[in-house]
Amino acid sequence: MKRIFITGASSGIGLATAKLLAERGDEVWGTSRDIARIPQLPRMHAVRLDLSDNVSLGESFRAALREAGHFDVVINNAGDIGYFGPTESLSIETLYAQFQTVVFAHIELCRLALASMRAHGSGRVINVTSLAARLPVPFMGPYNAAKAAMASFTMSMQVELEGSEIRVIDVQPGDIHDTKLHDAIANTSMGDWPHAARMECVWRVADRNIKAAPKPELVARQIAQLIDSRNPPARVTVGGFFQAVVAPFIFRFLPQRVRIWGLKNHYRLGH
Ligand SMILES: NC(=O)c1ccc[n+]([C@@H]2O[C@H](COP(=O)([O-])OP(=O)(O)OC[C@H]3O[C@@H](n4cnc5c(N)ncnc54)[C@H](OP(=O)(O)O)[C@@H]3O)[C@@H](O)[C@H]2O)c1
Repeated sequence: MKRIFITGASSGIGLATAKLLAERGDEVWGTSRDIARIPQLPRMHAVRLDLSDNVSLGESFRAALREAGHFDVVINNAGDIGYFGPTESLSIETLYAQFQTVVFAHIELCRLALASMRAHGSGRVINVTSLAARLPVPFMGPYNAAKAAMASFTMSMQVELEGSEIRVIDVQPGDIHDTKLHDAIANTSMGDWPHAARMECVWRVADRNIKAAPKPELVARQIAQLIDSRNPPARVTVGGFFQAVVAPFIFRFLPQRVRIWGLKNHYRLGH
C-alpha cells in the first residue's frame, strides 16, 4: 500500500489514475477546486486545491501531508489550456495565468514534495507534462511553452537528485480522449478571432486526433506501472502508436526547418 497525492483527481487522466490506485489498495489524496467532484470511494481522501494560488495550494498540500504522515508518490497532474489564439492577441495576464497553473504551481508542489521526501528518505514525483512540450500545437503557444518549461524543470531535478532515493518522472501524454481539457477550445467561437480560418483548420485536425485517441485509463495504467517499477524511466510518452512512438522518434532526427514543415502540414496550414 502506498500513500499517494494526486492533483486534478476530479476528471480525465487524474480521475482514472486516482480510481485505479484506490481500487488496487493504495491510499489516495485526490484534489479538485470543488471536493464534491472527487468520487467517494474507499481509500480516497478529497482535498480542495486551487493551482492559481501558491499560498493556498501549499496549505492544502501540508494539511494532506499531516493527515497522511508522508507521501510515497506525488503526482502533479492538474492542468488547463488557458488560451487558443494568435500570439499577437495574447494578453500578458493570460500568459501569467497559464504559467501559474502549469509551471509555478507544479514547481511549488515539487518543492514541498521533495522537502518532505528528503526528510522521509525516499519518494517518487510524477509530473504529467505533455507531448506538446516537444511537438507544439499551433495557436497554443502559452500551453506548449509552459509544458516545455515543466519538462525542462523536471529534467533539472532528475540530475539534481541523482544518488538520492527520490525519483522524478516526466509523463508526456499525446492526445487523450474523454477528458475536459479541450472543452474551452471546443466552446470558443473562433469566427471572432483574427486568423479564424487558420485556427479552425488547426482545431479540425486536433479535434479529429482527440476523438480517435486512447482513453485516460491508458495513462492511468502507465502511471501505476511507474509507481511499481523498481527502476522507472526518466520520461515516458503515452498515447496512440503514431503520436507516442512514431512521431517523437522521427522528430528526434529532423532538422528544425523540417520539423516546422511537418507540423504545418499535419495541421493543414498552408494548404
Ligand atoms: N487530454 C489530453 O489530450 C492531454 C494531453 C497531454 C497532456 N495532458 C495533461 O494531462 C493533465 C490532465 O489533463 P486531462 O486531460 O485529464 O484534463 P481534465 O479532464 O480537464 O482534468 C483536469 C484536472 O485538473 C484540475 N484543474 C484544472 N485547473 C485547475 C486549477 N486552476 N486548480 C486546480 N485544479 C485544476 C481539474 O479539477 P477541477 O476542475 O475539479 O478543479 C481536473 O481534475 C493536464 O496536465 C494536461 O495538460 C492532457
